[in-house]
Amino acid sequence: MKALATYALFWIILFNNHICLKSEEHNFRIKLDEFSVKYKLRDLIDNIDFRIVHLNNRSYVNGEMMLKSDVKDILMHTAMDFWKSSNKKKLKLYDGRLDACQFLRTAHRNGMFNIYVKSFRKHTNANLACPLKMNYSYTLRNWHMDEKDLPPFVPFGTFRTITEYFTQERLALRIVTQGKVIANK
Ligand SMILES: *[C@@H]1O[C@H](CO)[C@@H](O)[C@H](O)[C@H]1NC(C)=O
Ligand SMILES: *[C@@H]1O[C@H](CO)[C@@H](O)[C@H](O)[C@H]1NC(C)=O
Repeated sequence: MKALATYALFWIILFNNHICLKSEEHNFRIKLDEFSVKYKLRDLIDNIDFRIVHLNNRSYVNGEMMLKSDVKDILMHTAMDFWKSSNKKKLKLYDGRLDACQFLRTAHRNGMFNIYVKSFRKHTNANLACPLKMNYSYTLRNWHMDEKDLPPFVPFGTFRTITEYFTQERLALRIVTQGKVIANK
């Protein structure tokens, strides 16, 4: 369920210089429209499935994944685009690679990253650390972005993320998410 780290990265990159203003009323909410697996390596991934549930104006992600063998190394490539509603201009927010195993090991040293890693940990049954285990049902229950964890001023618009996971230098998984930042009237 590390796939979700991508989604978190979006917020981290977009609001890099974010200042925490407590008790500020948020005028936006985040609606996830898509969270889909576009490619999976069949000899590694036994099954993977994500569903979005909309409830009380919030998008929740549920899913599960099972691997056919242990995974010791994960390289993550993630790209994120944002289209501001005001001018429709496409902003390339992020396009980079990182070692996902190391990311999970060191997230606790970075306050910002830790918020999100903690949020995934709260909604998964698994110990999110490498190696990932074979035959283990990694599940995610009702994961969501809490607007309270985000800065109060977020531009309205549409976003898309594409995340690819490589192991042993092979593409293992490609996940695409799309969503919107909309007014919370
Ligand atoms: C959901 O949003 C609508 C209007 O956008 C609002 O009237 C309603 O109270 C909201 N529901 C919750 C549970 O926040
Ligand atoms: C994993 O599951 C497969 C298929 O059910 C089985 O053949 C294999 O022995 C299992 N391996 C482990 C380590 O549990």
